[in-house]
Amino acid sequence: MNKTIVAVATLLLAGQAWAQTAPAGSVERGQKIFMRQMCFNCHGTVGQGGGVAGPKIAPAPFPWSAFAQQVRRPRAEMPPFTEKNLPEQDLADIYAYLASIKAGPAAKDIPLLSVF
Ligand code: HEC
Repeated sequence: MNKTIVAVATLLLAGQAWAQTAPAGSVERGQKIFMRQMCFNCHGTVGQGGGVAGPKIAPAPFPWSAFAQQVRRPRAEMPPFTEKNLPEQDLADIYAYLASIKAGPAAKDIPLLSVF
């Protein structure tokens, strides 16, 4: 096989692994697990973030692969959640929950904030 074809095929495969789509998950179950696993303690009940404890993680969470990597092997202060304590399906459910959270209205669209 031609070397260029091999290189292109390798790049395509690597790209596919990177852009891996999230496994299917249950929004309702994910919300319960998000609470039970104490994610909300640091990230807020709707992932809004809370001061110094943890950054905002919703709406629009990281792409699945980066999200999963952060939870399994956090890059700084966050405690790691291993597959033993947080099975892959539970993580997929949490992701489905975070991805389902809608952004709030913009400040300019809230009448009470534009009376002055
Ligand atoms: C003790 C507090 C704490 C708990 C509990 C916690 N996190 Fe975090 N999380 C953090 C902090 C602090 C960061 C910033 C990066 C770091 O420290 O690794 C973070 C980063 C993240 C990020 C990356 C967002 C970004 O912008 O950096 C995701 C996604 C995330 N957490 C998801 C979760 C999930 C899901 C759970 C529950 C399974 C959870 N976290 C539990 C503190 C926490």
